[in-house]
Amino acid sequence: MTTKLTPLGERSAWKALSAHYQEIHDTQLRKLFADDPARGERFTLEAVGIFLDYSKNRITDETLKLLVQLAEESGLRARIDAMFRGEKINITENRAVLHVALRAPKGEKIIVDGEDVVPAVHVVLDKMAAFAERVRSGAWKGHTGKRIKNVINIGIGGSDLGPVMAYEALKHYSQRDITFRFVSNVDGTDFAEAVQDLNADETLFLVASKTFTTLETMTNAHSARDWSLAGLGGDEKAVAKHFVAISTNAKEVAKFGIDTANMFEFWDWVGGRYSMDSAIGLSTMLAIGPDNFRAMLDGFHQMDEHFRTAPFASNLPVLLGLLTVWYTDFFDAQTVAVLPYEQYLKRFPAYLQQLTMESNGKHVTLDGTHVATETGPIYWGEPGTNGQHSFYQLIHQGTRLIPCDFIGFYKTLNPLGQHHDMLMANVFAQAEALAFGKTAEQVKAEGTPDWLVPHRVFEGNRPSNTILADHLTPEVLGKLIALYEHAVFTQGTIWSIDSFDQWGVELGKVLAQKIIGELESKTEPELSHDTSTTNLIRRYRKNK
Ligand code: F6P
Repeated sequence: MTTKLTPLGERSAWKALSAHYQEIHDTQLRKLFADDPARGERFTLEAVGIFLDYSKNRITDETLKLLVQLAEESGLRARIDAMFRGEKINITENRAVLHVALRAPKGEKIIVDGEDVVPAVHVVLDKMAAFAERVRSGAWKGHTGKRIKNVINIGIGGSDLGPVMAYEALKHYSQRDITFRFVSNVDGTDFAEAVQDLNADETLFLVASKTFTTLETMTNAHSARDWSLAGLGGDEKAVAKHFVAISTNAKEVAKFGIDTANMFEFWDWVGGRYSMDSAIGLSTMLAIGPDNFRAMLDGFHQMDEHFRTAPFASNLPVLLGLLTVWYTDFFDAQTVAVLPYEQYLKRFPAYLQQLTMESNGKHVTLDGTHVATETGPIYWGEPGTNGQHSFYQLIHQGTRLIPCDFIGFYKTLNPLGQHHDMLMANVFAQAEALAFGKTAEQVKAEGTPDWLVPHRVFEGNRPSNTILADHLTPEVLGKLIALYEHAVFTQGTIWSIDSFDQWGVELGKVLAQKIIGELESKTEPELSHDTSTTNLIRRYRKNK
């Protein structure tokens, strides 16, 4: 199946943006602010409780107008509508893209292949809630009659990053007498460390895998089963009390030995990296409880509705997505730094890496031709203020342009003396320093010797967004995640790529399967790799 598209470079807004870039690319933020005393208030947007200050970007009103025009010419409106209608916009896998259905309220209708998918979403949510209540209250007993004190989620990629991030982000709301751990890596150390101080009779495993065939997850799940049975006297019946599955693949779940009554279902129209609000979020629900989980879904839904209905010029995800396109394609920015000034969001950048880079790390457009521009940038980051003492030097004075997203909150969940004011002072100070820098004149005026002046000058003109919300709640977390999900969607639409497949991870998987056999072969295997790979395999076999 192919789709006819106007190539990006031929869209009139793109051509206009190219000309406009030539005019403004050297313009300093200092000048833009000096010329417009209202800029800091004008270039802001607040919707569904999320405030975005985008004034410290290298844009003018004209830039915004052209970017919005680009979104229109790229068919963003039609594509948003197609997604929400349940059309199969993931063309390479012939699938609908309906993470928005996971947070659709009861009574809304979204039809896929002639069937309304919303009721099934709520059936699973109710089943998750009933299970979560039983585990949290202690009514769910392990094989020996003890209550569950430890929950271990086994999954990788979207079946891990979302659950870990959400658990960390919402720890404040979590039930503290249950320990939550997350095992993802096929490196046995991950599993060994997760269980080393736990008792099998108090430990529940959630095996989370959309496909239930992922090498890492199935290897860890089998080790968990062995560990569990060893600790429970080897009775196979114990599995039913200590293992539940979260998957779209009932056949494989049954094959593994988990009763499908203990399976929480989701659907092929939920991409792995868009699944943390599906049953994949069971660990989140166990930690924070069903009501908080539903509040998170409501937050997602509020942002979904904003994205679906707001005009592009006042649409948070659209603006965020367009600004990224602006820097990626016109300023040659390679990366975006996401800098949450909230310790609970420490895994948010790692979560966003899969969301953004697995989605938009593509070099072929929907019609199968090679893209003519750069696509998905590298997302990375660390919480503030830690990052300031690590990599911010490069952002301030290095040779690369790194657009930054600062995320902060008016209130902290852990008031402690002046800590929160200090934290937030750093958000505002960093964004200010990046934008306006410090001139040679200013440095000299401080009495700096001439030879030292160039080292102490900050050029400024480094762009950033500042995203603020009241305080971190499940609802706000849902809004923030949906904000980035839809920003990714916006970027993918401009670039005309399929943001919902991930063929690029396949080749390595296939080669690894072949090499596992070669590493474990009892006899010298015949190796048909390149000389480097062959040599590495031989060396490993000899020394292992
Ligand atoms: O990395 C590839 C990938 O398919 C991701 O898209 C996905 O989130 C992850 O593997 C895990 O897949 P599964 O949930 O099927 O185990």
